[in-house]
Amino acid sequence: MEVIIKQDAEKVSWEAAALFCRQLREKPDSVFGLATGSTPVRLYHLLGEMAQAGELDLSQATTFNLDEYVGLPGAHPQSYASFMREHLFAHVPVARWHVPDGMAGDIPQLCAAYEQAIREAGGIDLQLLGLGSDGHIGFNEPGSSLGSRTRLKTLTAQTVADNACYFSSPAEVPRHVVTMGVGTILEARHCLVLAFGERKAQAVAAMAEGAITAMVPASALQMHPVCTLIVDEPAAALLQRREYYRWVYENKPAWQRA
Ligand code: F6R
Repeated sequence: MEVIIKQDAEKVSWEAAALFCRQLREKPDSVFGLATGSTPVRLYHLLGEMAQAGELDLSQATTFNLDEYVGLPGAHPQSYASFMREHLFAHVPVARWHVPDGMAGDIPQLCAAYEQAIREAGGIDLQLLGLGSDGHIGFNEPGSSLGSRTRLKTLTAQTVADNACYFSSPAEVPRHVVTMGVGTILEARHCLVLAFGERKAQAVAAMAEGAITAMVPASALQMHPVCTLIVDEPAAALLQRREYYRWVYENKPAWQRA
């Protein structure tokens, strides 16, 4: 896993945007896996600004979002489909985008079809991930199988509390989601994890330097051959090898840079 430490969230977002640009340069019809939540918002806005300046083109790209709340229609303001329209798709035309349908009557069938659609698109080239303060990726909460596929999950009380700020009360946060599994995520060709702030420091350290365990689903990314973790200084605070990561980044050959 490559760990990149940047001074602040703004610089993390710029570094991630550069990786999106590089991916599109190499393959204009790339397939992206996308995340919601607070972490990618600035990155999406940067991509929007770059698209408007003619520096980035997603018009041949396909996207698959990681997850969606069960029971929220796509038009609900807190649905992840609405989030993606507001922060990205309204500003950057994308050839095809997919967010799981939180209102599907047959959830297992929806999940199987989502996996099939990813396969038919040729698999995910670059998978963007935020990190839960409990170590989740997608909504694969602690205890999730590291081989899991897209399926229904029940959120932990901690995630419900973390997400309550987006709803008028914690009671309104749906308890269930459809999420890509850890196994689904691990099949992406490149995984890109972003994390900001002191609140994520423990999860970042457990993910990158702790044991691989279902209790920290993000730790499964240690098994991924091409995983980039970009964090700000507060999120890096508990990494034991942070000075080494800085050294590696400073000495990175030019051809490896985004
Ligand atoms: C959202 C998702 C989640 C978030 C994670 C971090 O699509 O998959 O795993 O990335 O909960 O959320 P924020 O960015 O709000 O801290």
